[in-house]
Amino acid sequence: MNLFTTSSALKDYRLLDSGEGMKLEEISGVRVSRPSPQSIWRKRLANDEWMKATSTCSRTKEGGGQWQHLKPLPKEMWLRHEGKSGAIKCKLKFTTFGHCGIFFEQVPVWNWLEDQVLELKAKLGRAPKVANLFGYTGAASLVMAKAGAEVWHVDSSKGALEWGQENEKASQLGNIRWMQEDAQKFLITQYNKGLRLDGMLADPPSWGHGAKKEVWEFEKHMASFLDKSHAILNKKNAFMFLSSHTHGVQQEALKNVLAQDGRWKDLNCGDLGVQHANDDRVLPAGLFATGTC
Ligand SMILES: C[S@@+](CC[C@H](N)C(=O)[O-])C[C@H]1O[C@@H](n2cnc3c(N)ncnc32)[C@H](O)[C@@H]1O
Repeated sequence: MNLFTTSSALKDYRLLDSGEGMKLEEISGVRVSRPSPQSIWRKRLANDEWMKATSTCSRTKEGGGQWQHLKPLPKEMWLRHEGKSGAIKCKLKFTTFGHCGIFFEQVPVWNWLEDQVLELKAKLGRAPKVANLFGYTGAASLVMAKAGAEVWHVDSSKGALEWGQENEKASQLGNIRWMQEDAQKFLITQYNKGLRLDGMLADPPSWGHGAKKEVWEFEKHMASFLDKSHAILNKKNAFMFLSSHTHGVQQEALKNVLAQDGRWKDLNCGDLGVQHANDDRVLPAGLFATGTC
């Protein structure tokens, strides 16, 4: 199974072209060109199409991103996503890392999560309890809350949580628990308090740090992170969605770590990516594994 975002699924986003280390997108009406290290092929669109980009991000020596805006940006930029359970709205802002508050390859993941929540709600006869770990600005949390889940959103960044709360308000939601905490600490603390979850999404970076500077390293911490994740999940059809953007970690590696000790069943894995608007290329953007326990 692969989960690819098709540009036509979102009216506020289109991937126009990619190549030569860059991607060309239309984000909420703004034509944007920004770095895309995976794009090792040649660009397809003519140079004059790329020259129409009014916001360009280039890599700095320190590894961050520097934006140049040839035209003032709209006062506010939003992404609207229509799910089965209603629409969510997320604010878009260009950040120093060359990001904009949304990782567009996650759109089909939102749909997958919405289906899990709807199914569980019907099975359990109550609101499923779910967590979004390393949740950033919260789009997946909003989608799961719209579908009727009780959501714990966990991220170590205060800025990401404040941004998420703005998205929650714009999406006419108000019951998500926003936790500024190290993801692993959250699992230990809440397990000890007696919380048991019906589903979990984890989209960890290769490297990061918790709210109190706890170090997170994907390869080093994944197995023990999954011990804690498994412990806190109810063993009645609870779902797990795990993704990776870590160089050298392949789909089967994610599946193997979920399979350890026979804990998760119905294992699946695949690629994440974004389909171009006008041709059939997919821009790869990580991979995932899923399972139930
Ligand atoms: C790849 S982003 C997640 C993107 C998100 N899944 C989405 O689609 O919007 C990684 C996030 O992990 C957070 N983070 C990094 N280390 C963390 C840690 N130890 N505990 C909690 N959050 C952490 C960062 O602040 C960042 O927001």
